[in-house]
Amino acid sequence: MERKLKILLEYTSKITNEKDIRKILILLTDLAKEIIEADRCSIFLHDDSKGTLWTIVAHGVERIEIPDNKGLVGHVFNSGEVLNINDAYKDRRFDKEIDKKTGYRTKSVLTMPLFDRNGKTIGVFQVINKKNSEYFSNEDINLLKHISLYASSTLENAILYEKLKKAHQDVIYRLSHATKFKDPETQNHIIRVGLYCEILSKEIGLNEDEVEIVKLAAPMHDIGKVGIPDRVLLKPGKLDNDEWEIMKKHTIYGYEILKGSESYLLKVASQIALEHHEKWDGSGYPYGKKGEEISIYGRMTAISDVFDALTSERPYKKAWSIDETLEFFKINRGKHFDPKLTDIFIKNIDSFYSIKRELRDEDI
Ligand code: C2E
Ligand code: SIN
Ligand code: SIN
Ligand code: SIN
Ligand code: SIN
Ligand code: SIN
Ligand code: FE
Ligand code: FE
Repeated sequence: MERKLKILLEYTSKITNEKDIRKILILLTDLAKEIIEADRCSIFLHDDSKGTLWTIVAHGVERIEIPDNKGLVGHVFNSGEVLNINDAYKDRRFDKEIDKKTGYRTKSVLTMPLFDRNGKTIGVFQVINKKNSEYFSNEDINLLKHISLYASSTLENAILYEKLKKAHQDVIYRLSHATKFKDPETQNHIIRVGLYCEILSKEIGLNEDEVEIVKLAAPMHDIGKVGIPDRVLLKPGKLDNDEWEIMKKHTIYGYEILKGSESYLLKVASQIALEHHEKWDGSGYPYGKKGEEISIYGRMTAISDVFDALTSERPYKKAWSIDETLEFFKINRGKHFDPKLTDIFIKNIDSFYSIKRELRDEDI
């Protein structure tokens, strides 16, 4: 009992200091393994879209993914029962495939469902091979129930967070494409510009949170185009002087739409909308800002947006070749573009083309 209390205290303090969900789950499987004195533990999470259970954490094996109706794990997932089996090979529900692959011999196995707060099963906790005994005791079952409750709430929070993040991202991408019926630019152009900025911001050493922000903020750069009249936005050929003066206002319109929010994401997005056509040498618009007067976000988006525009077909131009594009950036290093970011771009140009290929415009 004293040993168990010590283990529990030790892990509880580690868990409370941990923010990373995977690391919390690893700590919970380690806790279960030590306190129950088992050889291995795993936590399976249900994938609703694929109908599978996969090991979000597992001792001693690579990631496992099984149909959600197979094995003891599948049985427990579907029935919601706790199963305590002394010899797995005598139970026909047991799936020997994994043992076959890993050369392991499962004997005693305790399998328990994980429920969310509405009572829906979201996964399974499994403990394998009790040490110094033939089977898991009632005390073991009770201990694992406690640990499973903790694992459930950790997982549920992670799932909710992931869903919220996805919805957030989706709203941003869709609203950034509000001119969908008018502008030749595609939804994928918008997404790609964010992904290019992700590369640049990682390479220049921005922290993880900043990288995520730029990746979501850059797609909003042209949102101000909603304020440009159709006769200009839809014009098939070159713009005349008056039309060009109108078109340039999309930067200020975007800024006006996005500014004034308390959200840091929207602050960055408004800055990007305002500055993405400024140039390093001061010859850009709307204000002719130069060098580091332009925020790093604006400078990254300029490179990303122009790369994507040049390599795409527009009603007023053809898509450029790799050589033409590279040449353009070399000539404009320190003129249109931040020289340091241009070097990073050129060094990583293959990654830019990969994104361009993977997220082609035809795909939408
Ligand atoms: P966009 O098509 O997304 O282009 C973004 C930026 O990529 C352009 O900003 C420019 O810096 C660069 N770019 C695009 N195509 C070319 C090109 O053929 N040659 C060169 N050297 N650079 C190119 P910019 O010029 O400030 O234009 C902003 C937006 O105004 C463009 O976004 C596009 O929506 C519109 N636009 C620009 N020129 C024309 C035009 O001649 N006709 C029409 N209908 N729209 C235009
Ligand atoms: C924990 O809370 O740290 C683990 C589970 C338990 O309380 O038994
Ligand atoms: C089973 O639950 O039937 C097999 C899964 C495992 O060995 O981890
Ligand atoms: C995680 O964020 O690592 C777990 C949640 C999930 O995969 O849905
Ligand atoms: C759009 O393309 O529909 C608006 C945003 C942009 O032009 O990039
Ligand atoms: C985010 O929403 O992704 C960042 C938080 C914020 O907007 O301040
Ligand atoms: Fe623009
Ligand atoms: Fe653009």
